Amino acid sequence: MIVNRKVLTLDEFTIQQLRDFPHATGELSNLLRDIGLAAKRVNVEVNKAGLVDILGDIGTVNVQGEDVKKLDVFANNQFMGVLRHGISCAGIGSEELEDVVVFDDEVSNQSKYVCLFDPLDGSGNIDVNVSIGTIFGVYRRVSELGKPCRKEDFLQPGIKQVAAGYIIYGSSTMMVYATRRGVNGFTLDPSIGEFTLSHPHIQCPPDGKIYSVNHGNFFKYGQGVKKYIDLCQRKGNPEGGPYTQRYIGSMVADVHRNLIKGGIFMYPATTDKPGGKLRLLYECNPFAFIVEVAGGRATNGKERILDIQPASLHQRSPFFIGSKNMMEELETFLKDNPNT
Ligand code: AHG
Ligand code: MN
Ligand code: MN
Repeated sequence: MIVNRKVLTLDEFTIQQLRDFPHATGELSNLLRDIGLAAKRVNVEVNKAGLVDILGDIGTVNVQGEDVKKLDVFANNQFMGVLRHGISCAGIGSEELEDVVVFDDEVSNQSKYVCLFDPLDGSGNIDVNVSIGTIFGVYRRVSELGKPCRKEDFLQPGIKQVAAGYIIYGSSTMMVYATRRGVNGFTLDPSIGEFTLSHPHIQCPPDGKIYSVNHGNFFKYGQGVKKYIDLCQRKGNPEGGPYTQRYIGSMVADVHRNLIKGGIFMYPATTDKPGGKLRLLYECNPFAFIVEVAGGRATNGKERILDIQPASLHQRSPFFIGSKNMMEELETFLKDNPNT
């Protein structure tokens, strides 16, 4: 049998990247492998979600006051469990857990990194077989090595991420992650159970034709956002005609598409949610990091997302992210209309 050596697995890729840094310890590669492992387990459950009793609500609400789905809990436990038993993560913060979890044991206290994640993004789409995802951000801890990690390790501005990524459980399952060196995408080959490099060096096109926003909230948006949406409907792309509106309701899927094809995603403040809906630490920051490394931009309407100093684990933020030129145009509207 001839082995196809063109296939580069996630593990091979991260180890290869390390070779450029003779003093690297391999901890980050390890962490990414752990995340890949948890993702594969979640993927198995997602794929058979219609067959087993894993759909629907668990009957409780999470710390954000939202219904918790069984798959949310399953995914949370997988990521937390794998990271707890791995050797590279000192603690985690998750959408599904009220407070950070400090892995206070001998091995974990020596780990350099902490991880924040949204274990299942777009969970409202689970029941209807639409793409969902996982989002994660990795930080180097600021607390003393050898001791349990602390809250301040998690409350760092997004610019301090050393890696960030997402998994999309879609028509194929993909893991995309960024370090400062670039963004790379790996597609899960189900026949061998490996993530393999399929999208090397992803760049977000500077222009796009897609805008993604929940139009149902239109009358709850500020003037700047309304005017920009109006422009999207009229002015159109360089070839003329309006932009195309696409909104799945799973941010992972919406931003993934826009990252590859070019476009803009918005979850603005609304009159009933003046602080926005999406969570800064484990939804906005990882995507802001990935999209910026790929050449795009991300803002809360007033400030670059990655510069915001977080105050609490579950804080929310308005969110605008996407192709550089589209974002710059949007930002002129937001600047002229400060009550965006
Ligand atoms: P989650 O499932 O983790 O709670 O996140 C859902 C988020 C995001 O993925 C999506 O873009 C947004 O909520 C959709 O919200 P609306 O239904 O309000 O548009
Ligand atoms: Mn989410
Ligand atoms: Mn979620």
